[in-house]
Amino acid sequence: MSAYNGKILAKVFRFNPASDTAGRLEEYTVESSEPLSVMALLAKIHDLDPTFACRTSTCFKGKCGSCLVRVNGKDVFGCTTLVRPGETVVIEPHSQFKLLRDVVVDFTQPLPAGQDKAEEGRQ
Ligand code: FES
Repeated sequence: MSAYNGKILAKVFRFNPASDTAGRLEEYTVESSEPLSVMALLAKIHDLDPTFACRTSTCFKGKCGSCLVRVNGKDVFGCTTLVRPGETVVIEPHSQFKLLRDVVVDFTQPLPAGQDKAEEGRQ
């Protein structure tokens, strides 16, 4: 039995342009006995650490696109992507938009074609 049964280990991208020179992954352990959407997981992380920035006003139906994030290296809808207890997940900003802070990107500023900014903020 895993030490993380009943828990989800999330490694979440953190970057505050006002104070950080580089981004980093920060670990959070979230207790849950059932699968959570990535959006629900991010909201729980925000409850644990109010300095963590994420979007919470969303449709949760895979229609608005405001939940786009990068999960385990793939750009996905955070509202329809599930994480199960016992899993470890890496959550980063979506790779195709300008990074604002933590996992929040500016959807009005798509990046030029071919430019993957998943590493933005990192050195
Ligand atoms: S919350 Fe609207 S598409 Fe995911």
